[in-house]
Amino acid sequence: MFPASEIYGGLRSSWDYGPLGAELLRNIREAWWSAIVRDRDDVVGLDSSIIQSRQVWAASGHEASFTDPLVECTNCHHRFRIDKIDDPDLCTNCGKRGMFTEQRDFNLLLKTFLGPVEEDTAVAYLRPETAQGIFINYENVRRSSRLRLPFGIAQIGKSFRNEITPGQFVFRTREFEQMEMEYFCRPEEAEKWYEHWLEARMQWYLDLGMHPSGVRLRAHEPSELAHYALATSDVEYLFPWGWDELEGIANRTDFDLRAHSEASGEDLRYYDQKADERFFPFVIEPAAGVTRSAFAFLIDGYEEEEVRGSTRVVLKLHPKLAPVKVAVLPLSRKQDLVGVTEQVANELRPYWAIEIDITQSIGRRYRRQDEIGTPYCVTIDFETLEDQAVAVRDRDTMAQDRIPVESLVAHLTDKFGASL
Ligand code: GAP
Repeated sequence: MFPASEIYGGLRSSWDYGPLGAELLRNIREAWWSAIVRDRDDVVGLDSSIIQSRQVWAASGHEASFTDPLVECTNCHHRFRIDKIDDPDLCTNCGKRGMFTEQRDFNLLLKTFLGPVEEDTAVAYLRPETAQGIFINYENVRRSSRLRLPFGIAQIGKSFRNEITPGQFVFRTREFEQMEMEYFCRPEEAEKWYEHWLEARMQWYLDLGMHPSGVRLRAHEPSELAHYALATSDVEYLFPWGWDELEGIANRTDFDLRAHSEASGEDLRYYDQKADERFFPFVIEPAAGVTRSAFAFLIDGYEEEEVRGSTRVVLKLHPKLAPVKVAVLPLSRKQDLVGVTEQVANELRPYWAIEIDITQSIGRRYRRQDEIGTPYCVTIDFETLEDQAVAVRDRDTMAQDRIPVESLVAHLTDKFGASL
């Protein structure tokens, strides 16, 4: 990950993802989409616009109340979110006391103008969450996909918030990516589905290898609940600064469908033919962050080990998340070996993300692959030219097996097992 606009000195809180980061993000999205959409028969996908009618954000309550309480130090002009500081009298930036302005509510919507004239009627917002795109398409999706309750609609995409205090690397940024699902159900079943999604979402992180001691569920106190929520729990991760939110799972009741029904005049109630009744479904929403979970997976996988008197850095990423699945490394740059390396890589490429690395000593190249989390390295050595076999090295144990090239795909398939 690189600071965005780095050659111009960087832009605070914006990050660009390089080749490995881009793969990691793709793998996280893919793992979420598989678990939420592909592996279930009650959830479908959606890809809605980032820019919607301004009325969407008026109806959802964002225009009026998507705010953070802001104070400014009159001495150094540093701004703080009052709900995020321990001592509301002390400026932690300049150390002065009693210098804060009155608290004011700062709206987090990122504003732009559509068309050539920057006037009030041209105001539009970049979405602050993907969720509203789902609510306003609820009836389109339900009708076109002939869905019956309970069912979910899932979406992955960029969201934008004019955060007052972005920071802690990619934990809180103004542009970020979310993975959200709205699960519509009968009101009397909402509690059951809330419990279901708490467990399923917690399990997703554990299945992707997160240490159980570093991830927990925490129910919100009534005073913490958003205006639309009956209950919310966060999946929290033990970040270096302490437990913090990774994902929120909320019972949003019928707040959103009801609000959009009232504001748009469209009847978004669900019609139950059997019971001949119309009602607004309740919604359970697991809302996760792509970029924030990438950060957590990196922290969680990072290990330093003593190996023969030196420190080995190894990123123990789950194979599903690893940017490179198999590295193919010739022992030397001799043309014979490089030729076989390319052949072997071509055989593996249809199945997995492959990297060839021919520079530096083999030891250094193993270390580099360990650092980026590559589960297996395949080494082509001089014996390979004689016995048509290669060494397969395991990232975690560093143990090596000698495997005939002709059974390499089968061997690696077996090694990855159900993990991919
Ligand atoms: N639709 C509900 C919703 O958006 P949220 O708790 O505000 O709920 C859900 O956001 C998730 O999105 C968070 O748990 C986090 O993973 C991610 N997220 C929210 N704001 C973020 C930011 N400024 N930077 C990075 N990720 C963010």
